[in-house]
Amino acid sequence: MRVILGSDHGGIHLKQELKFLLEEMGISYADEGCNCTDSVDYPDYAAPVAQKVAAGEYDLGILVCGTGIGMSIAANKVKGIRCAVVSDEFSARMSREHNNANILALGERVVGPDLAKSIVRTWLTTEFAGDRHARRVDKIAQLEG
Ligand code: RB5
Repeated sequence: MRVILGSDHGGIHLKQELKFLLEEMGISYADEGCNCTDSVDYPDYAAPVAQKVAAGEYDLGILVCGTGIGMSIAANKVKGIRCAVVSDEFSARMSREHNNANILALGERVVGPDLAKSIVRTWLTTEFAGDRHARRVDKIAQLEG
């Protein structure tokens, strides 16, 4: 599995924690930035992550900003992206099983590092359930035109 990470300045510390988790899980990842604490614009980091996941260069993406909201809104503008902003483990599991989310957005100012790690572990180890959910996800794709 290949995972790509991105954050703005509001998500840089949590992103670092998630890198430790991915290393622990033996999952290879790339980091699209940002790599500094200067104020940056989250769409600049959501876009390359979303484009690379949509192009199949990476299987899944994880975006972190202050709330996860800006990142998710930006990522969902890219065709083929289903980005879910999540702050609990149940939603993390559902976003994979039912919605086949291919990007997870987290808010560093919303979830603590331990909860975020549990969310990511759950999200990365849950498979899409297919069946009736595939029909619904196909209908989402039809909305993209
Ligand atoms: C940056 O201050 C903040 O707006 C950003 O990290 C994110 O929360 C936006 O949704």
